[in-house]
Formats: sequence, structure tokens, C-alpha cells
Amino acid sequence: MSDEPKRDVNQAEYTEEGKYVRKIRSFVRREGRLTKRQSQALELLWQQYGLDYNAGMQDPKALFPTADTYVLEIGFGMGKSLVEMAKNAPNTGYIGIEVHRPGVGACIADANDETISNLKVYEYDAVEVLADCIPDGSLDRVQLFFPDPWHKKKHHKRRIVKPEFIESIRQKLKVGGVFHMATDWENYSEHMLMEMSEAPGFKNQSETGDFVPRPEHRPLTKFEQRGHRLGHGVWDLMFEKSAE
Ligand SMILES: C[S@@+](CC[C@H](N)C(=O)[O-])C[C@H]1O[C@@H](n2cnc3c(N)ncnc32)[C@H](O)[C@@H]1O
Repeated sequence: MSDEPKRDVNQAEYTEEGKYVRKIRSFVRREGRLTKRQSQALELLWQQYGLDYNAGMQDPKALFPTADTYVLEIGFGMGKSLVEMAKNAPNTGYIGIEVHRPGVGACIADANDETISNLKVYEYDAVEVLADCIPDGSLDRVQLFFPDPWHKKKHHKRRIVKPEFIESIRQKLKVGGVFHMATDWENYSEHMLMEMSEAPGFKNQSETGDFVPRPEHRPLTKFEQRGHRLGHGVWDLMFEKSAE
């Protein structure tokens, strides 16, 4: 048997010398079909709304010269709540990151319908965008809403909330900036709380030392409204970056 790890396109990564190493990602890329609206949006609106990972570091201040606050959202899905937030806060510059191409298309189509100019998006792995494109100390808030919970224990290693990820968020936030998470999966909320409580350089904003009520700026999703009726819970966590 060879010592080489088994190859898997969803986990593949190559070193500079071209050697294959396995990387565990928080998503499995599925080539979902694009609707006509999504593909047209990607073709015609990418110039206006898209950000290129290969362009390297991008100062949010330069991307949104008239904004006074900068927010990054990781895994925005179809972008409904991100577009609504951008519409409600025109002085905030929003950067969204999503790997699901139909979601990126839907988001920029909606942003264009709403004539939004304070939102830009990456179609790329957020872990890599954070490392290579976002300057340290540049963000007022990072949002992670309903990340894939990876229910099965054997898949927990794919959960995006883990110490290295939390540390890279801390680096990108300004002092006093907030990492805001929400999940409808109780076991994941407990995992988030444990990881965040153990992470250096953060202070929990919850008065009870655990969760916070949903802040008004996070729109209620359709799925969440239905969940409330069925008695399902949603847990919000907000942790502030403390002084170095
Ligand atoms: C369960 S969905 C939630 C979507 C949205 N936030 C919502 O509340 O409807 C999680 C999303 O995160 C995206 N995602 C997972 N890992 C990611 C990563 N490393 N970088 C960018 N997007 C990611 C997935 O493609 C998926 O669309």
C-alpha cells in the first residue's frame, strides 16, 4: 500500500512542489444547475459585484469608500438575508463569501434588483479568502449564519467553527469588532459556545455567559419563521474581540 493519502477532489490541495496533501473542507462542492436568472447575473453583473480571490488583499475601505462600517458574511447561501441587511444599512460595506455558484448568482441578481451598491461577493472557500484577501484588523463584524452543522459525529471535523478558523476571524476583526454566529442545531450551538469560550482574545457579549437574543439587524429567515412555529430553537452567539 502507498503512503499517499486517498485522493478526494473535495479535499484536494497541492503544495508548491506539487505534492498532494489532504485538506478537510467545511463543504462538498456540488455542481448545482443554474437558473437562467442566476447565469445571466453571473455573466452580466460579476464585474460590478464580484471579487476575485486571485487579486489578493483588498482593503474594504477602498472597496466601499463611502462606508463607515465593514461586515463580512461567510456562507450566505442564496443571499436573501445578506441583501436585506445591505439594503437596510447603506453606510455599511458588506463582503459576502459563498462556494455555491447558484447562490452567488441569486444573490447578485437580487442585489441588482434592489440597486444595492454596498455589497460585493467572492465565490470561493472562506477559509482561503480570510487568509489571503482580508487585511488584519479591518472588519467591524463577521457573520456566520446557519453554517452546515455536519450532524454525524464522524463528520464533525468538517465543522467550520474550530480553533484555527476562530483565530483567523480574530485577526481580521478590529478591536471591539464582533463575531456573530447563529444556528438552529442545538448540538452545534453548544460546540460553538465551547470553542468560542476557550478561544483567546474574545469576550462573550451574552449577559448569561451563553447565547444572545437575535439582534434586530439579523433578518428572520423564512425557514426560521417556520421553525419558530414548530417550536424549533435558534441560538445566536456574539463574541467581541478584546484588546490585544
Ligand atoms: C446551511 S447553508 C446556510 C446558508 C445561509 N447562511 C442561510 O442562513 O440560509 C451553509 C452555506 O455555507 C456555505 N459554505 C460552507 N463552507 C463554506 C466555506 N468554507 N466558504 C464559503 N461558503 C461555505 C455552503 O455552500 C452553504 O451555502
